[in-house]
Amino acid sequence: MAKTVGMLTGGGDCPGLNAVIRAVVRSSDEAGWDSVAVLEGWRGLVEGRFQDLGVQEVSGILPRGGTIIGTSRTNPFKLDGGVEKVLQSFRDRELDALVAIGGEDTLGVASRLFTEYGLPVVGVPKTIDNDLSGTDYTFGFDTAVTIATEAIDRLHTTAESHNRVMVVEVMGRHAGWIAVMSGIAGGADVILIPEQPVDFDEVAESIRKRHARGKNFSIVVISEGCELPGVQDSGEVDQFGHVILGNRGVGEVLGREIEQRTGFETRVTVLGHVQRGGSPTPRDRVLATRFGLKAAELTRAGEFGTMAALRGDDIVAVPLAEATAELKTVPPEWYAVAQAFFG
Ligand code: F6P
Repeated sequence: MAKTVGMLTGGGDCPGLNAVIRAVVRSSDEAGWDSVAVLEGWRGLVEGRFQDLGVQEVSGILPRGGTIIGTSRTNPFKLDGGVEKVLQSFRDRELDALVAIGGEDTLGVASRLFTEYGLPVVGVPKTIDNDLSGTDYTFGFDTAVTIATEAIDRLHTTAESHNRVMVVEVMGRHAGWIAVMSGIAGGADVILIPEQPVDFDEVAESIRKRHARGKNFSIVVISEGCELPGVQDSGEVDQFGHVILGNRGVGEVLGREIEQRTGFETRVTVLGHVQRGGSPTPRDRVLATRFGLKAAELTRAGEFGTMAALRGDDIVAVPLAEATAELKTVPPEWYAVAQAFFG
C-alpha cells in the first residue's frame, strides 16, 4: 500500500504557502506517496478534517497567495484533549508522516508533538516576520518587504508634495526585520523596531535635523511591536498567548508625538494585512519550492523532528527543537545599517 504524507499550514498565512504544498505533493507523487491536506492547521487534526491532494489539485497554485488548505492559530496543547485528538486523527487517517508549514507557534507545537509523543513530523519555516532561528530566511518575508518598500516609495512622493512627515506602521510582531529591511530599501529617515528603545525626543530631533538641511518631508517606519511610552496592550491574546498587535496603534501614537514636538504636519499609514496578501515574489516562490522538496525528501528518509532550512545558499535539515528554541531578532549591526541614514 502507498504511504501517505499529510500537510498542514498553521498561523498567519503568507505568500508562498501554496508553492510549498505544490512541491510536497509533486515530489511525493513522483516517489509513489499519496498526499493529504489537513485543513486549517492543527484544528484539522483536532477535528479530523482532511482532503486528498493530487497533482491535479495543486496545478496552477504556485503564484497564488494564501493557502489552499486553510490555516488557523489553533494550539492543541491549549484545548481539552487536543493532543489526544491530534494523535487519534493521525492514526485514523493512516498518515505515515506530517509536514507542518508554519512559524514559531505551529513549529513549536510540531516540535513538542515529536519529542513528547513521537509524531513523525517535518517542519517548513514560513512567516513574513523572518523571526525563526535555524534558517537564514523564511519564505513570505521577501514578499512582505517588497510590498512595504513599494508603499514607502509611494508615500515618498505624496510626502514631498505636501511637506509632510509620513509614519508607516509595518508588521513583524516581536522582530523588526520587515521595518529594517523595507526602511533601508525605501530610504526611510527614521526606523523604529521592538529590539531598540524608542525615544520620542530623539525621533523629533532626527526629523528637525533633516528639515534644517533643506528637506521638507520625512518618512518614519515603525514596527507594530514597538514598546512606546503611554501605549497599553489591549490584553486580547490568541491561543499562543500573543497580544493582538494591530490594535495597539503605535503608528498613530508616534504620529501625534512627532507632530506635537516638531510642528510638522504628520500622517499615518498602517500597512496591516496587505503585507501578507497576494502573489509571492519570485524569490519566495523559489525558496518555498526548495523547502517543500526538502521536506518531502526528509519524510521519505524518516528524518523526523527536523525542519528544512536555508543556510547560505543551501537547503539543509536542522532540528525542530533548535529552530523553535528562540526568536531571531534584529541584531545591533543590522540596525546600525539603518541608523547610518537617520535624520
Ligand atoms: O506572524 C505574522 C503576523 O502577520 C505578524 O506580523 C502579526 O503581528 C500577526 O501575524 C497578525 O496576526 P493576525 O493575522 O492574527 O491578525
